[in-house]
Amino acid sequence: MKFYHKSCPSVETIVRDITWSKVAASSILPAKLLRLHFHDCFVRKEALPNRSLSGYDVIDDIKAKIEEECPGVVSYQFQRPMWQVLTGRKDGRVSLASDIPGNLPPPTADLTSLQQLFASKGLDVMDLVALSGAHTIGVSHCSVIARRLYNFTGKGDADPSLDPDYANKLRGECGSPLNPSTTVDMDPDQSSLSFDSHYFKIVSQNKGLFQSDATLLTNPQSAQMVEMLQHGRLFFVRFAQSMKKMGGIGVLTGDEGEIRKHCRLVNA
Ligand code: HEM
Repeated sequence: MKFYHKSCPSVETIVRDITWSKVAASSILPAKLLRLHFHDCFVRKEALPNRSLSGYDVIDDIKAKIEEECPGVVSYQFQRPMWQVLTGRKDGRVSLASDIPGNLPPPTADLTSLQQLFASKGLDVMDLVALSGAHTIGVSHCSVIARRLYNFTGKGDADPSLDPDYANKLRGECGSPLNPSTTVDMDPDQSSLSFDSHYFKIVSQNKGLFQSDATLLTNPQSAQMVEMLQHGRLFFVRFAQSMKKMGGIGVLTGDEGEIRKHCRLVNA
């Protein structure tokens, strides 16, 4: 907050205006941006090429407008609403696709490995559970859940931790044979466009889409958090706290890093 108060006073207005106008034109954009932010925080602090990530064009438009107004002052590493975001961080000088494995959790991850990965980023179990609530919006490709739906143990079966009726419904949506590019809502009963605490309800009903969602019920402590965060207000407060923490992972300041001219490219 206020880091660019003197050097680029219009920066927060530019970010807000461009983001809101893009979101008004595309209701699926918030999910893209939220996931992009998660990946960006976990894998160093750069925009990474990733075939299922989108939303970069919004960041590019914002950066172009800021460079017009305040050339060379603002790095692209900042975002806002719902929680106060510390600004003034720098962009990294390297951007490696090889940083992804081990830094991003797979949808098949169990609680122990999720806990370890989050802990390695300074995030605790409450952060893990609260941030998983981001899956209240957006979609997943059927390819991601194919094994869980059609062939979990190699015998043509579904994952027993997934509600059988719900598995049936998902198989209907994904098709037979499965179309890998088809997508399903992450939070289906409610709208997948509405950011609310409903994700925790579906997880408690064994309808979480990924094993990484279902695994939150496998330990009494995290299961209790799933129960607790079904209360909307509490979820919003906890989510905001954890987003703030996540946004602070590996922040580069001072002489570290650089201010990129173009967000997708390390400066020459
Ligand atoms: C806990 C470990 C997590 C795992 C294993 C995981 C995995 C995934 C996967 C596999 C997808 C579907 C991708 C696709 O098919 O295109 C997805 C979507 C999504 N994830 Fe996560 N995720 C995790 C945590 C998070 C966190 C912490 C956030 C944000 C704070 C987040 C936000 C999202 C959003 C918003 C989508 C929907 C994207 C869209 O609609 O395009 N996820 N996640």
